[in-house]
Amino acid sequence: MKMPAPFQRQPRARVTLIVGVSAMFAAGVVSTVGAFMGGPPVQTQIPTTAEDFRQPGTQPNANTDQFTATIASTNCTFCHSDYSPTFAPFDTWVTSMMAQSARDPVWHAALAVANQDANLSGEYCIRCHAPGAWLGERSATGTTVEFTNDDFDGINCHFCHRAVNPELGKFSAVGYPIEGQDADPDPEVLSPLAAAGLIPQGHGNARYIIDPRDVRRGPFSDVPINFHGSSFWGEPVWLITSPFHSKSEFCGTCHDVSNPVFTKNAAGQYDLNALNTQHPTQLPSQMFPEQRTYSEWKNSTFATTGVEFADGRFGGSLTGPMKSCQDCHMPDQVGGGCVFWDTGDPFFTRQNMPSHSMAGSNTWVIEAVAYQAGGDAESMGLTPERIQNSKARTVQMLRDASDLALTQEGSKLKVRVTNQGGHKLPSGYPEGRRMWVNVKFLNAAGVLVAERGAYDLSSATLITADTKVYEARHGSSAEVAAAAGIPAGENFHLALANTKFKDNRIPPRGFTNAAFAADGCAPVDYTYADGQYWDDTLFAIPADATQAVVTLNYQTSSREYMEFLRDTNTTDTTGQTAFDLWTMFGKSAPVDMDTAALILVAANPADLNGDGFVNGADLGIMLGGWGQPGSTDLNHDGTTDGADLGRVLGSWG
Ligand code: HEC
Ligand code: HEC
Ligand code: HEC
Ligand code: HEC
Ligand code: HEC
Repeated sequence: MKMPAPFQRQPRARVTLIVGVSAMFAAGVVSTVGAFMGGPPVQTQIPTTAEDFRQPGTQPNANTDQFTATIASTNCTFCHSDYSPTFAPFDTWVTSMMAQSARDPVWHAALAVANQDANLSGEYCIRCHAPGAWLGERSATGTTVEFTNDDFDGINCHFCHRAVNPELGKFSAVGYPIEGQDADPDPEVLSPLAAAGLIPQGHGNARYIIDPRDVRRGPFSDVPINFHGSSFWGEPVWLITSPFHSKSEFCGTCHDVSNPVFTKNAAGQYDLNALNTQHPTQLPSQMFPEQRTYSEWKNSTFATTGVEFADGRFGGSLTGPMKSCQDCHMPDQVGGGCVFWDTGDPFFTRQNMPSHSMAGSNTWVIEAVAYQAGGDAESMGLTPERIQNSKARTVQMLRDASDLALTQEGSKLKVRVTNQGGHKLPSGYPEGRRMWVNVKFLNAAGVLVAERGAYDLSSATLITADTKVYEARHGSSAEVAAAAGIPAGENFHLALANTKFKDNRIPPRGFTNAAFAADGCAPVDYTYADGQYWDDTLFAIPADATQAVVTLNYQTSSREYMEFLRDTNTTDTTGQTAFDLWTMFGKSAPVDMDTAALILVAANPADLNGDGFVNGADLGIMLGGWGQPGSTDLNHDGTTDGADLGRVLGSWG
């Protein structure tokens, strides 16, 4: 696409990123890392090749003009930016994690470790986190060394708006008859891929199909004038109505992540494939499931009838049931679709204009990216105001995600957490993300008598033993651990993870064990009944507590994970950089998703089993202790006798 001079913006200044490459990543070379005196045990790099990570979909091609891949987001800013902090596409997108997915310092640190663990695995990470670079064949080293400045824009405007529905005929695109363009070009795009056997089956793994032409696919069928059209540029830039863009399947292209190096066996475990060869079935359901946000959604009520929230917590101006990812993550606003049309004129004002805010749960990385960009941050669009807006939206998202209910059951406090979101709570990236219950028991004077799930902000240490932590924990089987020279069991080695040790994250509405198991997202080492989208935790109430204050906390990046990224890295400085930024930006301080308080009723000493009732069960316990001292000796006179029995009968029922 050629833009006339007045609309072209200056390319942004180069962003300084600390990047490391190592000769050891040359394909097929097995190398060892960490083999210095007194260092960590010797680890062996798994000698995977690009072949092991190959996926169907559009293939990279640097030599065809069509695939100079995606046009920079700066080409869209002239019309789609600087008019609304809540819905102008650029203003909201630029502070989303997807805009910064290739600058994200945590990603750079994890990328380095992945490349250490499995040769060229970084190439796969780049396919999803920096699709423009991947399509343009600037990812062959598995690192970002060959990236252009624009490649660091991660998942950009032009990439998403050129994406084609891979399922021919499903949400079939309707050609929008503008300036002679009325054909549905999907078959044209899909046919060559079908002939080459490259149409993906199943969801996820960034198996996107990209229109080789410069087109703009979007949700609207009623754009009054095609500003992208030939009358403006002298070259046709088609505007294609794409129902696919309003569907969760579009997001599902990347929000199910499977490791293709492993294949599910008959026992339901994941074996390392023969190397230097594609996954034998190329079915994501047969690969190790790292993330399953799309599948969790697909098997929830949100994918069928949707869920209507009386408090309107999701969707912006959209009313009725919430269904798709876009309903919650691209909430509708009232306004114009371009800077010239956002004038309040009713003809150009849309009532349901999806915002590109894409708020999730990451509370600190955007600020770290802006800090790293230094003086270039503003010209990249990362203004302090936009960053504040984005942070506020993320915190709001986390607050809308759950509800908290407290009840007393005898001598126990019951904390119920209900998941209101469209997938597991939390969902997505397993490593370092966690949610936990903090309980503070106070006495009548308001003084803290006991705390459960205490978190120390300065050391970033969470006491986990006395509370419930909602999280997924992955790691390596004995087979993989032996091949890699690392201890078997839980770890943060993303590329080497083939076993789930824990997943007690709360399912969404509509959960069934069978459907979740079939898609690789069943609970692990925990049970939820079909239909259960909440979880209860019981805490024993300490003797002099008269009030409980409970907070549900979310943390994006745990200290344990950030230390891993720092300490495991033997390649470059990205681990240290990510750790330093994490420290500088508050160590990913937990966000209070919900807080509630409950006045506790002093437990009746005659309720010997603490079930909230004085009944036959308590009488039985009392008779068991007859004639002896102890808890059944209610008046503390040294023996359990008629006086104590009188107390039980006196508060019967
Ligand atoms: C992650 C993918 C993604 C990225 C990146 C993205 N968009 Fe979109 N965009 C969408 C989807 C999906 C919709 C339709 C949402 C719906 O129907 O609810 C949309 C809608 C739109 C619309 C029509 C509605 C509106 O908000 O005006 C415009 C215009 C648009 N995008 C422009 C852009 C521009 C410009 C950028 C870059 C600054 C961009 N998009 C980045 C996915 C994306
Ligand atoms: C010269 C101004 C201009 C430029 C530059 C521009 N757009 Fe647009 N775009 C518009 C207008 C005007 C609309 C119509 C908005 C509406 O109807 O609400 C639009 C609509 C869209 C839509 C929605 C189409 C639909 O049918 O749903 C998408 C997607 C889009 N633009 C993407 C982009 C992308 C990506 C870029 C940069 C590569 C870009 N635009 C650059 C003016 C522009
Ligand atoms: C009913 C509203 C709703 C729907 C539908 C929904 N989400 Fe979410 N999503 C949320 C909320 C609330 C959060 C924040 C809490 C959390 O982390 O789970 C969130 C968080 C996320 C996160 C960050 C998860 C984490 O903890 O790291 C991702 C990624 C995400 N959503 C993607 C998706 C995708 C993809 C879809 C569609 C397949 C989708 N969401 C559908 C409400 C929704
Ligand atoms: C090309 C692949 C791709 C597509 C398509 C895509 N995403 Fe993402 N998304 C990512 C990646 C990669 C990240 C993580 C970036 C990071 O944290 O560095 C991400 C992050 C997010 C987050 C932020 C999670 C957090 O922890 O805060 C949300 C929310 C999200 N995506 C929603 C969506 C929605 C909604 C759609 C569809 C409209 C979508 N994504 C389409 C790849 C994609
Ligand atoms: C198919 C798409 C896909 C692939 C392939 C992929 N990721 Fe991601 N990644 C995501 C999505 C989506 C998220 C956001 C989920 C969330 O926030 O919960 C994410 C999040 C992350 C995060 C968290 C970032 C943060 O700021 O907390 C890291 C780190 C990461 N990925 C590293 C990697 C590495 C390393 C690889 C390659 C071994 C990789 N990813 C491959 C989709 C992908």
